Amino acid sequence: MHAPDGEQNGEARIESRQTSISFDIFTLFPGMFSGPLDASMLGRAREDGVLSVRLHDIRQYATDKHHVTDEPPYGGGGGMVMKAEPIFRAVESVLSSSWAVGPVPPADIPVILLSPQGRLFSQEIAQELSTKRCVALVCGRYEGVDERIRQHLATDELSIGDYVLTGGELAAMAIIDAVTRLLPGVLGDPTATVHDSHARGLLEGPHYTRPRVFRGWEVPEILLSGDHAAVARWRREEALRRTFERRPDLLSDADLSVEDHAFLARLLRERGSVQGRG
Ligand code: ADE
Repeated sequence: MHAPDGEQNGEARIESRQTSISFDIFTLFPGMFSGPLDASMLGRAREDGVLSVRLHDIRQYATDKHHVTDEPPYGGGGGMVMKAEPIFRAVESVLSSSWAVGPVPPADIPVILLSPQGRLFSQEIAQELSTKRCVALVCGRYEGVDERIRQHLATDELSIGDYVLTGGELAAMAIIDAVTRLLPGVLGDPTATVHDSHARGLLEGPHYTRPRVFRGWEVPEILLSGDHAAVARWRREEALRRTFERRPDLLSDADLSVEDHAFLARLLRERGSVQGRG
């Protein structure tokens, strides 16, 4: 486990973030994006110029009469595979034109293919992407994409989880959301992202708001005590407890202090004694 330097890490990451980000999205279904990108914080981030999203319909880059974008796979088998040409043409022409040439050379723009075979998207990758000015997201569909897109166009391939969606569009939206909320000014509280679940390797503990008693269920007394140090310690311990119970795998990479280790050792002993009794 690492030395307790989480606070410094969190701040360093915030400093390297951009003040705005542009996403170029390549999709067969641009209509899927209206709604999620218009509402709430993403909508406001777009109005404020912090987030720019350009949607590119891959079909418009197919040059044949019927704008064909998918074909059956070579070698047989079911399903359809997205063709290489329209996607290469779309990405190359967009990235080498207009604003893409301005702030960022096309070669520096990550081209991310969304697919269930990609590396697993995480808070760490969201933080890494929040340092970019421009990001291109290519939404795969059907049974998959021609392998040459993966080999010669994409610079990275991301999955948002071990399940299969009908396409990469919802994954692209999840990534845009997770990255944009890290940019300065998108969330009301500038320190909020430092305490996020996953931001420092732990899940967040419980939160409560008014009323103090709801249907007989009381808010933990310590939160009403006014003792800031005690509240901070309680929150830390609840975050440790929740991570220990739900995602113990995260603990091996978390920034843990001597007190954190002692608390976890206590939880382990408690669990041991409960199991011993059971
Ligand atoms: N396309 C289909 N399933 C996906 C997933 N889990 N992540 C990213 N893109 C996908």
